[in-house]
Amino acid sequence: MSRFLGVDIGGTFLKVAFKEDDEIKTEKVAVKDIQKKDYFLRSLSQVIKKYNPHRIGIAIAGLVDKKTGLLTNSPNLKFLEGLNLKEFIEREFNVEVFVENDANVAAYGEYVYGNGKDSKVLVCLTLGTGLGGGLVIDGKIFSGVSGSAMEIGHITIEKDGFLCHCGRKGCLESYVSSYGLERLYCLISEDRKTSFDIINLAKQNDEKAVQTFEVFTDYLAIGIMSIAHIFNPDTVLLAGGIIENYPMVLTLTKSKVEKLVFPLPLRDLHIDTAKLGSWSGAYGALALAEIYSS
Ligand code: BGC
Ligand code: NA
Ligand code: ZN
Repeated sequence: MSRFLGVDIGGTFLKVAFKEDDEIKTEKVAVKDIQKKDYFLRSLSQVIKKYNPHRIGIAIAGLVDKKTGLLTNSPNLKFLEGLNLKEFIEREFNVEVFVENDANVAAYGEYVYGNGKDSKVLVCLTLGTGLGGGLVIDGKIFSGVSGSAMEIGHITIEKDGFLCHCGRKGCLESYVSSYGLERLYCLISEDRKTSFDIINLAKQNDEKAVQTFEVFTDYLAIGIMSIAHIFNPDTVLLAGGIIENYPMVLTLTKSKVEKLVFPLPLRDLHIDTAKLGSWSGAYGALALAEIYSS
């Protein structure tokens, strides 16, 4: 009998997927004031104690050093930079831990449990607080030499564009993320609203919100075109809260990508939503604990 635990560490929640005897349970744990490292570590420790797993997979937003497990950069979880979760958990709980970038893990979750099962070259884009990218080739996560491949959020899409949370200008993430959406809306409407409100307005056909999503998907489509031209994937999956709550993003993006990509890479390209929605990371972390060994 084995127990496996996957934890996806997000901006406000820990998303948990736990498997015991082929049964999977999920849980969303709100962390009191997640921006504080101590609260965060306490909540994570409570989750680990509760499930008492044999192996743990962790998905975390940021660049994770493959060799050491250290989170070297995290534009949207700055307070966790420099943390070594692998070291911390292995020391405290004496269990084996795998730590990976959240979007790499989301792609793996879709490959194992979601919409990517038959895919040879699978890309998953996670649109949330940040913009993440994951690549699974023939069932293996491609994470580069150091572990930091597919930082697709931080490719430059506008010279001197919006200021990104990473400190650079014009990154794809600074347009295609929840804060990107909020900035685009602000630019178009001269009004400030949360991404949640902008989505609701767009659903009610509010002109400015609809226009915001036009521009948002222009940028997203250009990002996907670049990915298609570099990796020639058969599958690109869109994951995260924005897509889950406003599926129109998929429709708009697909038609734009069709006009941008060369015919050959376009021929075998399927763009879809992630089956697991905003749970791809938690399932992927579980899969990491269960079967992944690099
Ligand atoms: C980070 C990535 C992460 C993504 C989604 C980006 O800002 O640089 O490492 O995968 O956000 O959380
Ligand atoms: Na990544
Ligand atoms: Zn950036």
